[in-house]
Amino acid sequence: MAKESFISKTVAITFVVMTCSVIAGMITMIILYKTQISELNPTPRPTFSTTTTGPPPVMRLPKYLVPETYTVYLQPHLYTKIIEKVNVTSPNQTLLFTGNSTVVFHCVQTTRAIYLHSKDLTIMDSSVVSLKDNARLKINEMKHHEDVSDFLEIQLNEALEKGKNYSLFLSFQGEMSQSLDGLYLSSYHADVAAEEGDSRERFLAATNMEPTETRRVFPCFDEPEMKAVFHVTIVHRIGTRALGNEQKSVSNMLDDYWQYTKFNPTPKMSTYLFAFVVSEFEQSSSSPHDRVDIQTFARPEAIKARHADYAASITGKILSFYEKYLEINYQQKTLDQIALPDLAPAAMENWGLVTYQEGALLYEEGVSSLLEKEWIATLIAHELAHQWFGNLVTMKWWNQIWLNEGFATYMATIAVEHVEPMFQMTDVFVMRDFQQAFEEDALASSHPLNVPEQEIQTSSAIIGMFDSITYSKGALVLRMLAGLVGKTTFHNGVKIYLRDFMYKNADQNDLWDSIQKAVEMDNGHTEVAKVMEPWTNQIGYPVITINTTNGEIYQKQFLFNDTAESEAKLANVTLALNLTRFLRNETAYIPWESAIRNLKYFDLMFDRSEAYLREQVTDLYKYFRNYTDSSTVPEDHSLQHSQILAIDVACSNGLPECISMASKMYANWMKINGTNTYVLYTLWTPVAAGGKKEWEFAWDKFQSTTDTSEKDQLRSALACTKKIWLLNRYLEYTLDPEKIRLMEVASTIYYIARNVAGQALTWNFIRAHWDYVSEGDAASLISGVTSRFSTQFELEELERFSTDYILGSADRAVNQAIEQTQVNIQWVAEHKDVILEWFEAQTA
Ligand SMILES: *[C@@H]1O[C@H](CO)[C@@H](O)[C@H](O)[C@H]1NC(C)=O
Ligand SMILES: *[C@@H]1O[C@H](CO)[C@@H](O)[C@H](O)[C@H]1NC(C)=O
Ligand SMILES: *[C@@H]1O[C@H](CO)[C@@H](O)[C@H](O)[C@H]1NC(C)=O
Ligand SMILES: *[C@@H]1O[C@H](CO)[C@@H](O)[C@H](O)[C@H]1NC(C)=O
Ligand SMILES: *[C@@H]1O[C@H](CO)[C@@H](O)[C@H](O)[C@H]1NC(C)=O
Ligand SMILES: *[C@@H]1O[C@H](CO)[C@@H](O)[C@H](O)[C@H]1NC(C)=O
Ligand SMILES: *[C@@H]1O[C@H](CO)[C@@H](O)[C@H](O)[C@H]1NC(C)=O
Ligand SMILES: *[C@@H]1O[C@H](CO)[C@@H](O)[C@H](O)[C@H]1NC(C)=O
Ligand SMILES: *[C@@H]1O[C@H](CO)[C@@H](O)[C@H](O)[C@H]1NC(C)=O
Ligand SMILES: *[C@@H]1O[C@H](CO)[C@@H](O)[C@H](O)[C@H]1NC(C)=O
Ligand SMILES: *[C@@H]1O[C@H](CO)[C@@H](O)[C@H](O)[C@H]1NC(C)=O
Ligand SMILES: [Zn+2]
Repeated sequence: MAKESFISKTVAITFVVMTCSVIAGMITMIILYKTQISELNPTPRPTFSTTTTGPPPVMRLPKYLVPETYTVYLQPHLYTKIIEKVNVTSPNQTLLFTGNSTVVFHCVQTTRAIYLHSKDLTIMDSSVVSLKDNARLKINEMKHHEDVSDFLEIQLNEALEKGKNYSLFLSFQGEMSQSLDGLYLSSYHADVAAEEGDSRERFLAATNMEPTETRRVFPCFDEPEMKAVFHVTIVHRIGTRALGNEQKSVSNMLDDYWQYTKFNPTPKMSTYLFAFVVSEFEQSSSSPHDRVDIQTFARPEAIKARHADYAASITGKILSFYEKYLEINYQQKTLDQIALPDLAPAAMENWGLVTYQEGALLYEEGVSSLLEKEWIATLIAHELAHQWFGNLVTMKWWNQIWLNEGFATYMATIAVEHVEPMFQMTDVFVMRDFQQAFEEDALASSHPLNVPEQEIQTSSAIIGMFDSITYSKGALVLRMLAGLVGKTTFHNGVKIYLRDFMYKNADQNDLWDSIQKAVEMDNGHTEVAKVMEPWTNQIGYPVITINTTNGEIYQKQFLFNDTAESEAKLANVTLALNLTRFLRNETAYIPWESAIRNLKYFDLMFDRSEAYLREQVTDLYKYFRNYTDSSTVPEDHSLQHSQILAIDVACSNGLPECISMASKMYANWMKINGTNTYVLYTLWTPVAAGGKKEWEFAWDKFQSTTDTSEKDQLRSALACTKKIWLLNRYLEYTLDPEKIRLMEVASTIYYIARNVAGQALTWNFIRAHWDYVSEGDAASLISGVTSRFSTQFELEELERFSTDYILGSADRAVNQAIEQTQVNIQWVAEHKDVILEWFEAQTA
């Protein structure tokens, strides 16, 4: 899946980095990190006696039953629209779904108990059959474990025998989720009613399984290593379309109300990749590819407006690139991608049916920003990389999810560089992911890429693994390995890895072995595992010091909290600040964005960098003024970036010219009251400077537009008002899914927290409504809302929060926020005077 990123759709600058960390870290990556932490304890495997009746000692399924195939029927009873004709009894909407599944499994160890996963399902009927003689085995007892294991335990009267095959049939019913997990409800407004007087509201059924939600849709062996083939049939209402992992084989009417769609059997795959969607969506023109039928689906209005065209135009190219590059063809005949109005992650790589948030797939020329275009290309490349890294070869267990996400993130940069070379994605990747990873990994509360297996057992712990370390550090460690053994050797090793483990599961040792083979074929001498294990099994990264007098080299883990030993701070903070003076003469956007990301920390801690940045950006703003004033953009891609950045930095730091330009455009927009494309880049300034009228205009636009880009940009702009009562109103709106979708709650609150005027409000707000708001991306919410924390009082509140609330998947994020706050307090105390003095001196 793709990590939801709050920075993706605005030119917003996000999480902070201390400048020194980058300077210190950059030169160190190639040098071996010596000090090993104590040997990790191997995970104790549970042992089971053949007649066990008690629950297994850990939350992993016993491995004595191995699933081979599932035959699954699922029937969501949902109506996609409610017709409100006066003389027709209106059907009531329903979230009920019914279904049955037959799993064929092989018994590798004699046992009388079947354990599998099932959550919130009511089991109606069940039977166990021995496939050899079709004999039914009597079920003694069936029980749901009422704990985090989600086990469904079936005790039999007689034992299942080692070496034989059996089938387990279960019929069941459940309720679709309203919180974007498992099989869930999504809704949107159609542009026009079906008939006069009808509601414009439309509904669809979609799934999001990763990591552990498939068990809420049908009982299954819900672990990534329990791969199987899925034969799926969806029963759905007449007039709707069902999409699944595989190509459709038959679709027929059942009666006047129902039809069914049967799909070809899937490849052998993990349960978390299971997906289907039932909707009234339509498809854009297909994406060119010589073998695979690639279709892009979205709301009918979005298709009509051609918003899916950009995605369709690059998907085939990216898929072909991977096929050539990896020398293994994509396995299926079809690849569907769909833009969903509601989806928890930015995107999810379900095999053959990739799901995206609308903003991650739909692009509108002239309205969407350049950054959105790059975001779309990067996400498609990320999800398609998963079709190999994750879907074809899967990690053995969630503690090594970095193998999925690190590869998808790294491969995406290579693919985007290939299909959209103008984006300079390789450079952008280094800037963004390096800084992101270095920042999080400089906390003692960080985690190694490869967390000990026994620590990652519950669903919350698994969800907690999907963070910047897994994505960014995972990708960078692979990039480092490619640099170390050589790109060609690495490429060969990756091909060996995929070929040897396709349709299977691998752990990081398997990867090291494959790369090692390639190293030896090229007569290299690098000991891959020895070099790489310290990087994946330990937290942090080293700072290397070279004594230039005698050539001695030392290393030490880099930590923000560097109280141990004497290591004076590594560099005087004013040295780093001095370096930013060159910006005044710079027009390229990578150095600018890089510097701004780092300076953000000073802004968060001191709120004093405004005058300095205003001065620095003045010339850059003037450089693009012609374009800006006439609502045009330069031809060069990277100059377009610089222009957006210039407007953003100039307006947010109060350059009068910029403010008046933005206010004028906004006033004009309010007058014409249509879609004014160019104004969108500068939206938030007039909202910040304006009052009730400006805010309410933006809010009405936000509510009425069905244009994804415009909606996203307005949602961020609305958070910029300085009026506390408007911010409070906006926060209240996040509790109403009719106003702010659940998937957008965390980022909306984060946008408000980023506003100095809103930060305290959001902290109170998330504590008051934690149950609801934490259903979104709770970890990012915490790091966003606490990013300005730098006082003892805030620290104490945060510590109280960590003991008084159920943190779930945000557990690690809260600990990191506590440490970050401690570090901030210390850093501010030490540097306050010299930094404030520095900023004053620059603008005196
Ligand atoms: C009832 O429905 C029928 C067909 O849907 C329509 O022709 C008729 O005019 C309706 N009657 C009223 C009273 O609305
Ligand atoms: C719909 O719900 C209403 C009120 O709960 C009930 O009176 C009516 O019978 C229901 N209609 C159907 C078709 O189930
Ligand atoms: C499973 O469900 C399908 C669809 O509702 C139904 O046609 C089929 O008979 C069911 N299978 C069994 C064994 O009940
Ligand atoms: C069990 O099923 C597997 C896979 O379908 C098959 O290879 C094997 O021969 C079967 N074993 C028996 C004892 O029927
Ligand atoms: C570097 O090496 C020289 C010569 O051994 C030594 O005198 C000096 O103290 C060392 N410098 C540091 C910073 O350790
Ligand atoms: C850093 O440099 C500034 C002058 O630029 C000086 O005032 C300050 O004392 C130095 N701080 C340290 C820790 O060396
Ligand atoms: C930063 O620049 C100022 C002014 O040019 C200078 O006084 C100071 O020493 C510099 N700081 C460092 C650490 O080089
Ligand atoms: C910026 O450029 C001007 C003129 O080219 C030069 O005089 C000045 O020193 C430069 N400033 C910096 C910080 O490099
Ligand atoms: C900006 O406008 C001036 C005067 O109208 C013109 O000379 C200059 O070439 C323009 N620059 C760009 C980049 O269009
Ligand atoms: C803008 O237009 C919409 C309809 O497109 C209308 O509902 C709204 O009231 C208008 N707003 C203003 C401020 O005129
Ligand atoms: C830094 O680490 C030391 C020792 O490891 C610890 O006592 C101290 O509380 C930490 N300080 C901060 C600001 O985290
Ligand atoms: Zn991913």
